[in-house]
Amino acid sequence: MARALAELRAARCVAIPTETVYGLAGDATSGEAVARIFEMKGRPRFNPLICHVSGLEMARRIGVFSDPALALAKRFWPGPLTLVVPLQADAGIHDLVTADLDSVAIRQPAGASCAIIGSLGRPLAAPSANRSGRISPTTAAHVAKEFPGESLLVLDGGSAEVGLESTIAKVEDTRIVLLRPGAITVEELTQASGLPVELAQSGGPVQAPGMLASHYAPDAPVRLDVFACPAGASLLAFGDETEKDRREAVRSVNLSERGDLREAAANLYRMLKMLDEHGARLICVEPIPEKGLGMAINDRLRRAAAPRD
Ligand code: TXA
Ligand code: MG
Repeated sequence: MARALAELRAARCVAIPTETVYGLAGDATSGEAVARIFEMKGRPRFNPLICHVSGLEMARRIGVFSDPALALAKRFWPGPLTLVVPLQADAGIHDLVTADLDSVAIRQPAGASCAIIGSLGRPLAAPSANRSGRISPTTAAHVAKEFPGESLLVLDGGSAEVGLESTIAKVEDTRIVLLRPGAITVEELTQASGLPVELAQSGGPVQAPGMLASHYAPDAPVRLDVFACPAGASLLAFGDETEKDRREAVRSVNLSERGDLREAAANLYRMLKMLDEHGARLICVEPIPEKGLGMAINDRLRRAAAPRD
């Protein structure tokens, strides 16, 4: 923790554990630190980053919180919810973080990363700690593999509890726009804020990199909604075996044998990586129910299966 703080104060990046996925963190007020994040990820410049805060007080120094935004923060922070709100006039956040927008994405993560932000006294910009377009890391070992040969300090916080990136909700006056589905569901957002939730339209200007058609991609091609795995393919199964044919798979792992979506989300990226590492030529995925957390899982899987450049 002490070394991490020293690195961050020197405008260098540190990989931090959060409950969603590991983040590649840098001081959000330092242009040098933020530029390093983009450099390390090899990420297109138009993507703004999430500011991670240690609490509501720090959040309100950088963002303007309406009553519904406040209600959401109080209900779900620390936790897997990112709120996009208007940027404060004197926020002090580097404009590389906001991509020069007049809004800012803010989240209070749980655990060790929250403690570090508190000690630093400044927000941390942190995208997922993977190279652009690849699967988000859910363990410290995954992070280390993404950045071999670079002297990156990785704080090991064990396996990420949620395993999927945060829900991103843009809070407007009369509605919430869901920019990225995640562990906090549409129903929970409506319940806590009293506002209707609308899904962001795809095809417009890019608002979240998770909205790029091909993203979160493993090395092997991915085929979805498979009931009978073809010969030679690797299988990402879900649920018990009754109505599915798994006999031809060369390798098979199960996201959740008991059909639990929370368990499946936590396993998703790790298992995709595992199949990749065993040299999968094709990854077939069994159907995942499109409800609750299943929406977020399917969103990531559709991007993993999308045609690539
Ligand atoms: O779970 C997470 O959110 C992880 C952990 C590390 O916190 N972080 C993460 O960051 O997934 P990243 O950079 O991969 O995704 C940040 C998302 C992007 O999709 C970006 O476009 C969106 O937040 N975003 C940031 N600022 C925005 C803004 N002002 N308006 C709309 N979207 C914004
Ligand atoms: Mg990412």
